[in-house]
Amino acid sequence: GKGEYDHYMLKEINTQPTALSNTIEGRIEDGDVAFESLPPGTFADVDSVQFVACGTSYHAAMYGGQLVREAGVRAEVLRASEYESTAGPVDETTLVVAVTQSGETADTLDAVRKAADRGARTLAVTNVVGSTAAREADDAVYIRAGPEVGVAATKTYSSQAVTLALLSQRLAGDVPDAAPVADRAAMLEALEDLPQHVETVLETSTAESLAEETLDSESFFFIGNGRGRSVALEGALKFKEITYEHAEGFAAGELKHGPLALVTEATPVFAVATGGADDKTKTNAIEAQSRGAPIVAIGPDDHPLVDIADAHLSVPDTHPVWTGLLANVQLQLLSYHAADQLDRPIDKPRNLAKSVTVE
Ligand code: M6R
Repeated sequence: GKGEYDHYMLKEINTQPTALSNTIEGRIEDGDVAFESLPPGTFADVDSVQFVACGTSYHAAMYGGQLVREAGVRAEVLRASEYESTAGPVDETTLVVAVTQSGETADTLDAVRKAADRGARTLAVTNVVGSTAAREADDAVYIRAGPEVGVAATKTYSSQAVTLALLSQRLAGDVPDAAPVADRAAMLEALEDLPQHVETVLETSTAESLAEETLDSESFFFIGNGRGRSVALEGALKFKEITYEHAEGFAAGELKHGPLALVTEATPVFAVATGGADDKTKTNAIEAQSRGAPIVAIGPDDHPLVDIADAHLSVPDTHPVWTGLLANVQLQLLSYHAADQLDRPIDKPRNLAKSVTVE
């Protein structure tokens, strides 16, 4: 049940420290990645990776896909519903990774079946043991987030992103010519602290009062670059899904190529700082600010974006690979509290289902 919480979504947001501890449990050994079902060498024949996913899982796949590319492995991240028109050719050296919480999303199953028919090797990254995706794929890795009841995906996003980050390091070790990130030991060490950092965000977040202050706006924009872009897209999806307010996520650098025309004093811009390549996020946030938009920075206290912002949602300073996941928790809380203040049916938003089994 929901226990002490008003909604499953809030419960699931708050259980992320436990979910993440379960996700990483036993998967880091001697400074390296340990996957029960995928021992070292599993991907020695892999040459490139295609991720296929929908919605929130697509955003987690974007996060993971970037880490795979940073490891020197060719990777594309594709919307499952667009697989036919966007996927490059595959063969037995292509690993197609279906990222799906439920393991039952029709668009994702269809994409991965098409890839398998064409000879690709398949891997399911899912929360549900025995799901269709897990049964049909050549291999499966479980994100171990525990059951998610709220239609809005929260803890499964965090656990998916972390599982994919770990997968990126297995690929880095296995794929010829790939290489682990230079500071892998530090990155994995910081991962072990991630549940505690999420706990800090949950305990100190000021998202509830910020939601109240900004709620009377026309539109809500979310921007970020690099890993921050996927967090911005996810922030906007969650916000529109449960508040029914107009929200959009953009790559920060794209703002000036069109969306800036929408920016006014009535459109707060939430700018995600990831500790990575955030310069563009800062310059484009300043552009929006000079058109009157209030800027909310989400990131560590000493981040340059915070200096220029009108408001700030703070996250602990950690390895830059994980900062975006902490920013995402702040954005989950922002959406939740905004929807709560609007009295929306948070766990069952109109027109949506937890698992989308039609194409
Ligand atoms: O079960 P899946 O991860 O395959 O579901 C994919 C999307 O339908 C899902 O993430 C959806 O976008 C969420 N309701 C967003 O909160």
